[in-house]
Amino acid sequence: MRVQVAIVGGGPAGHLLGQLLYKAGIDAVVLEQRSQDYVLGRIRAGVLEQGTADLLDEVGVGARLHREGLVHGGVALGFGGAHHRIDLHKLTGKHVTVYGQTEVTKDLMEARAAAGLTTIYEAEHVTLHDFDTPQPKVRYTKNGATHEVLCDFIAGCDGYHGVSRASVPADALRTYEKVYPFGWLGVLSETPPVSEELIYANHERGFALCSMRSHTRSRYYVQCSLDDKVENWSDAAFWDELRRRLAPEVAETLVTGPSIEKSIAPLRSFVAEPMRFGRLFLAGDAAHIVPPTGAKGLNLAVSDVRYLSRAFAEFYGGSEAGINNYSDTCLRRVWKAVRFSWWFTSLMHKFPDDTGFGPKIQAAELDYLIHSEAGSTALAENYVGLPY
Ligand code: FAD
Ligand code: DHB
Repeated sequence: MRVQVAIVGGGPAGHLLGQLLYKAGIDAVVLEQRSQDYVLGRIRAGVLEQGTADLLDEVGVGARLHREGLVHGGVALGFGGAHHRIDLHKLTGKHVTVYGQTEVTKDLMEARAAAGLTTIYEAEHVTLHDFDTPQPKVRYTKNGATHEVLCDFIAGCDGYHGVSRASVPADALRTYEKVYPFGWLGVLSETPPVSEELIYANHERGFALCSMRSHTRSRYYVQCSLDDKVENWSDAAFWDELRRRLAPEVAETLVTGPSIEKSIAPLRSFVAEPMRFGRLFLAGDAAHIVPPTGAKGLNLAVSDVRYLSRAFAEFYGGSEAGINNYSDTCLRRVWKAVRFSWWFTSLMHKFPDDTGFGPKIQAAELDYLIHSEAGSTALAENYVGLPY
């Protein structure tokens, strides 16, 4: 097979890049190691920045997002037994849309299929070759047979554990990492959300987040320890713990029910620099991870592929400026999201070894945030997404 761009990984970054390139008249193949059902079974992010929703519109996959997505003009911070609203819309003129990553990926998969574009699911043993030359190749096996894709560029959109970053010589890469001493236990349930807007709660027992997927489906998270196991948490234990971490008048109204998904995610910040090696470009979680507190992971993957698709279009239009600037352009935005996610994580979680100073600083900062327009605006601007 010969294509202009070989996209490794069929998550949101890979699929959106495929759609952007299709719109730009650049041919690409998506190689995904899992099945389509497996990819759609992963419950992950839920908050889309306005810029993300706008881009999905631009590439023609925004119709269901507008029908089913929930537009949020504010979020609440819970602490000290009360909830305080941050008016995102008043402070920034922007809003966010709550629409699951799974749905975004599904819409992109459907658009790809409707346009007759090729995605190879269950592509095994993907290997990257010659990306330090003008003629890179990607090999994979499928049903026991080995295939080769000849291309101009490889886009490594294969997530944190993917093969793309791992294919780069170690001395060509610098990585930065921070591992947090806790995880998030997430539950999805067919119950109405406890609040119309998201609640991020700082509590002495640990962080909690109330989110949703629709008016009848809720997504909740509680901070858990790193060695916790999903099996340790019955549904009843989860609901009890969540209730304890919310203000009493909110906890009273929580509607509970059986969980339809329950999983634990560790929290880390990670950046690999640069994001380009010759003809290989990393995008999304393949290059960087943020803790989920700021809801930035998916939005960053989207901003990377936005820059990358433009860089490829410029290349085929005769300029290498875009591909040469890709890494620096992305990383400026990436580090701002890394900073915000680290800051918001540090503000809202219980740190296991902290003897008392940390919670006092958090309380002072939260008090400052809700009473200072500058403080609330800084939070709101980062949360809705910095301008491009
Ligand atoms: P991915 O979604 O990881 O997609 C990569 C794709 O590449 C996958 O489909 C994978 O199967 C495929 N792949 C991997 N290796 C290979 C290979 N060798 N060959 C071919 N294909 C390969 N963000 C938030 O904002 N809020 C959240 O609540 C949140 N929760 C999360 C929970 C978990 C458990 C995880 C892991 C992430 C979460 N994130 C969250 C982050 C967000 O989901 C990611 O930032 C987003 O998925 C990034 O998209 P991506 O396409 O770059 O990577
Ligand atoms: C969701 C996840 C997040 O990480 C976040 O900050 C907000 C919402 C969610 O899954 O709905």
